[in-house]
Amino acid sequence: MNEASIDQAAIEAGARALEAGQLVGFPTETVYGLGADAENPAAVAAIYAAKGRPQDHPVIVHLAPEADIGHWACEIPPQAHALAEAFWPGPLTMILKRAPNIPDAVSGGQDTVGLRCPSHPVAIALLRAFKGGQGGVAAPSANKFGHVSPTLAEHVRDEFGADGTVAMVLDGGAAQVGIESTIVDLSRLATHGPVLLRPGHVSAEAIAAVIDQLPGAPDAAAPRASGTLESHYAPHTPVAMQDTASLAQTLVRLHDAGRKVALIHYSDLPPTHAGERLPATPEGFAHALYAALRAMDGKGADVILVEAPPQGGAWLGVNDRLRRAAHGSTGIVHGLLNRDAGV
Ligand code: TXA
Ligand code: MG
Repeated sequence: MNEASIDQAAIEAGARALEAGQLVGFPTETVYGLGADAENPAAVAAIYAAKGRPQDHPVIVHLAPEADIGHWACEIPPQAHALAEAFWPGPLTMILKRAPNIPDAVSGGQDTVGLRCPSHPVAIALLRAFKGGQGGVAAPSANKFGHVSPTLAEHVRDEFGADGTVAMVLDGGAAQVGIESTIVDLSRLATHGPVLLRPGHVSAEAIAAVIDQLPGAPDAAAPRASGTLESHYAPHTPVAMQDTASLAQTLVRLHDAGRKVALIHYSDLPPTHAGERLPATPEGFAHALYAALRAMDGKGADVILVEAPPQGGAWLGVNDRLRRAAHGSTGIVHGLLNRDAGV
């Protein structure tokens, strides 16, 4: 999608709805967001209610490229400006100390704020039209709490469709990156250095190349992030990961046990094992993953079996999401093979 193909009337309607305190679904390059005016606590509260999300989980504030981050954050370190310069607009969220004038509803009561300038042309057009480009749009991923993030407008309508809580959903096609933004915490730089709260398309190494410091892993005192809960991004059907080497054999055994398997894989398999095949690159796999999980979730299978991707650095974001999607289903394959088929 390019700027010429944007439906400007829909953008204006979305901006007016946000200004009126309503919720608007909109595309970003990572996943679709469920937006509200970040400076309207009642509108932000409506996001939490719609998602069924606990009140103490902060949401990311989305800004237009021209926005002044000094309005939102204070004690901004030079590293934040350098990262914004390098990666915005784009899939990087920075956690900074929250400016005193910003309502604490957006940060779930924490003294920080998460900021991101998305690169999707529809998101940018919406952010420029909203409050003349001076506002911030608080937006979590547009899914029910804990569920798979949406990468198509249709997914957002599936999540919130008929209940009237979302005023409108702007359609920007398939989200290009496909998994949520990288989150780096810069709010405790002096004492803890930069911390990678959530891996994503912008890698720790790419961040280190800009600020000369590799972001570390979160410690116990790191800001809480719901996307870092052990169980998250999960379909309703149990999810299990399976190594490439034992995949074909496990499929045969599950089949022989009378189990229905929805398969997501990337390597070549005999046609008898056919499932949904995703690209074998980290970018291609991430782009297609959430839509595949949603599609497989609709198959009435006993388990969604996912071929475990390689462990290399560029696969970190994908492996992180898959581990969380599978977290609640530990032992499921063993259970399906050893319990009676129960027909
Ligand atoms: O790619 C994305 O980041 C998408 C699109 C819509 O921009 N948004 C997204 O939002 O994934 P959400 O709410 O599903 O995940 C945002 C994560 C949560 O884990 C939240 O806890 C964390 O960001 N977060 C936001 N503000 C924070 C803060 N002040 N301190 C710590 N974590 C924060
Ligand atoms: Mg989310």
